[in-house]
Formats: sequence, C-alpha cells, structure tokens
Amino acid sequence: MAFSILASLLFVCYAYARAVPRAHIPLRDTSACLDVTRDVQQSWSMYSPYFPAATYVAPPASCQINQVHIIQRHGARFPTSGAAKRIQTAVAKLKAASNYTDPLLAFVTNYTYSLGQDSLVELGATQSSEAGQEAFTRYSSLVSADELPFVRASGSDRVVATANNWTAGFALASSNSITPVLSVIISEAGNDTLDDNMCPAAGDSDPQVNQWLAQFAPPMTARLNAGAPGANLTDTDTYNLLTLCPFETVATERRSEFCDIYEELQAEDAFAYNADLDKFYGTGYGQPLGPVQGVGYINELIARLTAQNVSDHTQTNSTLDSSPETFPLNRTLYADFSHDNQMVAIFSAMGLFNQSAPLDPTTPDPARTFLVKKIVPFSARMVVERLDCGGAQSVRLLVNDAVQPLAFCGADTSGVCTLDAFVESQAYARNDGEGDFEKCFAT
Ligand SMILES: *[C@@H]1O[C@H](CO)[C@@H](O)[C@H](O)[C@H]1NC(C)=O
Ligand SMILES: *[C@@H]1O[C@H](CO)[C@@H](O)[C@H](O)[C@H]1NC(C)=O
Ligand SMILES: *[C@@H]1O[C@H](CO)[C@@H](O)[C@H](O)[C@H]1NC(C)=O
Ligand SMILES: *[C@@H]1O[C@H](CO)[C@@H](O)[C@H](O)[C@H]1NC(C)=O
Ligand SMILES: *[C@@H]1O[C@H](CO)[C@@H](O)[C@H](O)[C@H]1NC(C)=O
Ligand SMILES: *[C@@H]1O[C@H](CO)[C@@H](O)[C@H](O)[C@H]1NC(C)=O
Ligand SMILES: *[C@@H]1O[C@H](CO)[C@@H](O)[C@H](O)[C@H]1NC(C)=O
Ligand SMILES: *[C@@H]1O[C@H](CO)[C@@H](O)[C@H](O)[C@H]1NC(C)=O
Ligand SMILES: *[C@@H]1O[C@H](CO)[C@@H](O)[C@H](O)[C@H]1NC(C)=O
Repeated sequence: MAFSILASLLFVCYAYARAVPRAHIPLRDTSACLDVTRDVQQSWSMYSPYFPAATYVAPPASCQINQVHIIQRHGARFPTSGAAKRIQTAVAKLKAASNYTDPLLAFVTNYTYSLGQDSLVELGATQSSEAGQEAFTRYSSLVSADELPFVRASGSDRVVATANNWTAGFALASSNSITPVLSVIISEAGNDTLDDNMCPAAGDSDPQVNQWLAQFAPPMTARLNAGAPGANLTDTDTYNLLTLCPFETVATERRSEFCDIYEELQAEDAFAYNADLDKFYGTGYGQPLGPVQGVGYINELIARLTAQNVSDHTQTNSTLDSSPETFPLNRTLYADFSHDNQMVAIFSAMGLFNQSAPLDPTTPDPARTFLVKKIVPFSARMVVERLDCGGAQSVRLLVNDAVQPLAFCGADTSGVCTLDAFVESQAYARNDGEGDFEKCFAT
C-alpha cells in the first residue's frame, strides 16, 4: 500500500515535470523526484544535480544592479568516456562473481550497464533551462529585445547543449519576447578561457585522491568482495561502482540500485571528501599550476566590468576578444558556459573558497570551506553583479546563490566591495599569472 502510494506520487512527479509547459509552473526542485534524499544527492558533489548553496537575497536597497556576468557549468551528464570504461571494468568483475551471498548485491544477477557517454542527460537539460528561466526572472530589468544577453560556450557538445537549453529557458520565461542566442562557441583545441585545456605541465590530483582511497575504501571493498566471491574488486573498482549511484540516478531520474550499496556502505562523507581532494589538487589551490588556468576568464570579466579592451596574455583568443561581434563591451548581461575544473581554476585564481591550510589527504577537516557540493555541482554558477550604490560602482559575487564574503577586496557585511577594489584585488590575473602561465609550457 505504502509502496503504491509512493509509486503514484512519483508518477505524478514525472508526468507533471514532463507534460506541463514549463512557463506555467513555478521553478521547482527538479531533483526532488529522484527518490534519494537531498543530503545523499549533495554528497555526490560534482555529480550532484544542481542545488543552490543558499537562498538568493537581493543586494542592499541602496544598490541597483546594472550589469550581470554568469559563468555556468554544463548540466548533469553521463560519465565521461574514461569514467565509463572504468565503471564497465568494475561492473564486469562484479558480474563475474560465482554467486552473491550478500542480499545487497542480489540485483547484480540481472543488472546490465547501459549508460551513454559524455553528453548531457535530460535532467541536465531541464536544470539548464531552469537556470535560464531563473536568470530572466531575476534580471529581467536589465534586458530587452534590443539588449539581449551575450552568450558564449566552450566547444564540447554538452556545454553547447547547456547554453542552448539556457537560452531556450530564458526565452520561455520572457514569453518569447527576449530570445538570446549562443553567439560564440570557443574551440577546446585552441585558446579557450572556458576550459582547462592550455596547461600541459599541470599535475593532477591522483596522489592525494589515491591516498584517501587507500584509507576509506578497503573496508567497503572487503564487504563487497565478501558478498561476491570471485569478483576480486579493487578499491578503485569500489569507487567506480559508487559513482553509478549518481550517474544512473541523474540519467534515469529513478533511484539507481547502486544507491542501496552507496547508502549501506555509508559512503556519503568519504565520497564527498574524495571530490574535494580531486578538485582542490586538480585545478584548485593545491595544484601549483591550477589557478593560472582561470586567469584569462578573470581578465575578460574585468574587461566587461570596466568596459575596457581585454588585457591578457594567457588563455584568451585575441581574434575573438578584439572584435565587438564576438566580445562586445556594451551589454548588460553576459552568460558563459564551461566545465567544473575550469570554474575551480577561476575561483582559485580569484581567491574564493580559500583555505588557511591545504586539505589533508588522510584527515578531513570538518570546518573546511572547500566543499565541492557547494562549489561545482552540475549546473553550478558564479554570478557577478555590478552595482550602482549611490553613484559608487561596486560588485557582489554569488556562487550557487551564496553571497561570497569577498574579504580580499574589503567587502562589507553584505558582500559588496567597490569595483576598483575588486579589480585591484585581481593582481594575479592582471599580471597574467605572475609567471605561472609560462610554467604551463616548461619541459
Ligand atoms: C558461492 O561461491 C563460492 C565460490 O564458488 C562457494 O564456495 C560458495 O559455497 C557459494 N555460496 C553459495 C551460498 O552458494
Ligand atoms: C532475475 O530475473 C529473473 C527473470 O526475470 C527473475 O526470475 C529473477 O528473480 C531475477 N533475479 C533477481 C535476483 O532479481
Ligand atoms: C553594441 O555595439 C554594437 C556595435 O559595436 C551595436 O551594433 C549594438 O547595437 C550595441 N548594443 C547595445 C545593446 O547597445
Ligand atoms: C537541450 O539538451 C538536450 C539534451 O542534451 C538536447 O537534446 C537539446 O537539443 C537541447 N536543447 C536545445 C534547445 O539545444
Ligand atoms: C581564435 O579564434 C578564431 C575565430 O574563432 C579561430 O579561427 C582561431 O583558430 C582561434 N585561435 C586560437 C589560437 O585558438
Ligand atoms: C585479484 O586481483 C589482483 C590484482 O588486482 C591480483 O593480483 C590477484 O591475483 C587477483 N586474485 C584473484 C583470486 O584473481
Ligand atoms: C579597443 O580597441 C579597439 C582597437 O582594437 C579600439 O578601436 C577601441 O577604441 C578600444 N576600446 C577601448 C574601450 O579602449
Ligand atoms: C593563444 O595563446 C597564446 C598563449 O598565450 C598566445 O601566444 C597566442 O597569441 C594566442 N592566440 C590568439 C589568437 O590569441
Ligand atoms: C589563499 O590562502 C593562503 C593561505 O592563507 C594564502 O597564502 C594565499 O595567498 C591565498 N590565495 C589567494 C588567491 O587568495
């Protein structure tokens, strides 16, 4: 009985989401239909559906928003090709077990892996559209049919699809009176400020992630191997099987059977810390050549905020950025679409989510501020609002709707600092990474 009520509620949940034209329903929590608690979904970190990290609050009454800059991660996707291969290896080993002695694994007998690769999933498209609707709703006073948002995307298909779903959502929310288009797609094979593709000498987070894996995973691996004699899973296999909980759930919009394993193993905290280490040491503060990869975007942001030509000698494409067709300076709303690793590089070059001490690969600090679930879930976004506060040009910055303290430019308690102080604070970017960019190409 309880089950059938739940089942019919879920059915209504999906039917409602799919059938009712979205302009007529209030923005909803898309992830509420997945039959996995919000806390567990958020522990998926970079594989979590979008969640705001705070409730949006308007700037102080004395300030008027006069320009907005959005950089947003693509929506929920299938595993990348590399991850898909590792997952399939782990699944094959699990399926090769002679039998399953643990009821937790009984479903594997009939299980087949069937996810796609790399591309956006339906939930990711929906959340991207919702982000466009929200941007229109929040900033409609800045745009008109003659003053459209200016939209760029990094060249991979899922990022382009995200940008197009965002513009479609924006148009829908305006009842098609304001129809932005994706104007610039930047090739990921060339100079690209929206992808971390230009620093061959940068290291990766494998050492730190493997140290953490060796600490948290062995009891989980032992439990799985005990229940699947002959599977002979490694700790890496265990991690890849855990990722099936988020990947299958966001792809099918139904709870994955692997979420029973994820929850039974109480993987939430360990998985989230794995993500924090991965990003912190991937392109964040813990990677010597991580932050420099975010410099070009910050110089573009400064150009737009100050209506000055771009001054940068790192990742920018000067052909694109010197033309008003591909890099206008007279717009009120800019939206760029990118990837999590690139956004982490940008945040770290800027000084957001800084840590007084680096993350320890074996001992999570419960008070850490570098929490991937609040930084780059799917569809994560940074928004810089330029404000006129009684004649003083100012800025405030939000990541996933959480106002950032901006101590580095002397912000007040509402997170507002002057535009001059913000630009001043970005010396690392303005100085082209203070020598780090050249190190990207050192042999
Ligand atoms: C499962 O397989 C192992 C290895 O083949 C065997 O030793 C064990 O008896 C089996 N257990 C059950 C419950 O069938
Ligand atoms: C696997 O599928 C078969 C055929 O549908 C079914 O009889 C069996 O109960 C299933 N096994 C498990 C463990 O779900
Ligand atoms: C921005 O400048 C271009 C010329 O460079 C012009 O065509 C366009 O109308 C301007 N847009 C706005 C919103 O002022
Ligand atoms: C939205 O994303 C979906 C899934 O990737 C894609 O099939 C669709 O073409 C996108 N919509 C637009 C308007 O680009
Ligand atoms: C810069 O952008 C132009 C126009 O899209 C493109 O033709 C060129 O290949 C790009 N150059 C680099 C180095 O990325
Ligand atoms: C289990 O895998 C390890 C390598 O991961 C290998 O050294 C070992 O021989 C395997 N054991 C069995 C019983 O297949
Ligand atoms: C930007 O550079 C172009 C030439 O590339 C120049 O015509 C224009 O005046 C410059 N704009 C600003 C705001 O400096
Ligand atoms: C691409 O970036 C490199 C490295 O900063 C730079 O030397 C080159 O001029 C850039 N190309 C373009 C078209 O901006
Ligand atoms: C981050 O914090 C560390 C330690 O306090 C400091 O040395 C570093 O300059 C900060 N980085 C940025 C970009 O603010």
